[in-house]
Amino acid sequence: MRRITGTLALLLGLTAMGFAFAAFTASANEANVATAASVDAAQIERGASIYQTSCITCHGANLQGVLDRGPSLVGVGQAAVYFQVATGRMPAAENQAQMPRKAPFFSPEEIDDLGAFIQANGGGPEIPASGLRDDAQIAMGGELFRLNCASCHNFTGQGGALSQGKYAPNLDPATDEEIWGAMLSGPENMPKFGDGQLTPEEKAAIVSFIQNNKATIDPGGLPLGGFGPAPEGLIAFLVGMGAIVAATLWMGSRA
Ligand code: HEC
Ligand code: HEC
Repeated sequence: MRRITGTLALLLGLTAMGFAFAAFTASANEANVATAASVDAAQIERGASIYQTSCITCHGANLQGVLDRGPSLVGVGQAAVYFQVATGRMPAAENQAQMPRKAPFFSPEEIDDLGAFIQANGGGPEIPASGLRDDAQIAMGGELFRLNCASCHNFTGQGGALSQGKYAPNLDPATDEEIWGAMLSGPENMPKFGDGQLTPEEKAAIVSFIQNNKATIDPGGLPLGGFGPAPEGLIAFLVGMGAIVAATLWMGSRA
């Protein structure tokens, strides 16, 4: 009898302690979750209200897209939103063959709010907060750029025309974040370079190469789109020889 009551008492004590511990940790966890979630929730809320006034007509109430107006934004992630809104392509004014880059309509905070809202509804790729450049790997970046990007953006990043009135833009105005956003989202005819195609380290090397390229001092003269020494030399030869021949003829006619 005594043994049974003893066991019962022990069980009771253990259960009570279990409950007390569960209650304590639960309340502690709740407090943590509540603060983290309320920060995010406020940001998502702000993003949602911007979305409802500026994007909903073309992208739909549930981001599902609207026929003939705009594509679905489910799964495009923060990267695509950042790229499109920071480069001023979105909100689009009207449907064009290709949205041009312009001054951004929203502030950086509003762009982050919009990104958080879209990210919370469907997920997708995100631009990392740091490690966007790797200045030690510029040579590798150049190699990767020539392999993956130069066919459309030219060897120097000056851009060029594509078919059907579309074009690959000059990369001069693009920031590190925008280059990452472009690679992760693949706007228009540009392919998407997910982390499987180009690792984050390779992307950082490419960004360093592009940004370093811009910083290189222009040696002067007429830029011919960086076509290289052969075509540039040919043009210099034709123009120079033409001028000499014209001058000779002119002098001959005077004599
Ligand atoms: C007038 C219609 C219109 C409005 C308004 C508009 N969009 Fe778009 N959006 C488009 C069209 C059309 C495309 C596809 C164009 C393209 O691919 O270049 C697009 C593409 C996008 C993409 C790229 C999707 C992808 O698959 O990579 C994102 C992100 C985006 N819009 C976000 C927004 C946000 C955020 C807003 C509000 C601030 C907005 N858009 C307002 C028409 C619109
Ligand atoms: C098949 C052609 C093609 C290839 C390859 C390509 N791009 Fe693009 N890129 C484009 C087009 C087209 C746009 C314009 C998209 C738009 O206006 O919505 C663009 C836009 C961009 C922009 C935005 C520029 C701006 O000022 O807004 C950046 C940055 C960019 N590309 C970087 C890259 C990098 C880096 C690579 C290689 C890893 C690459 N692209 C490969 C076609 C291409």
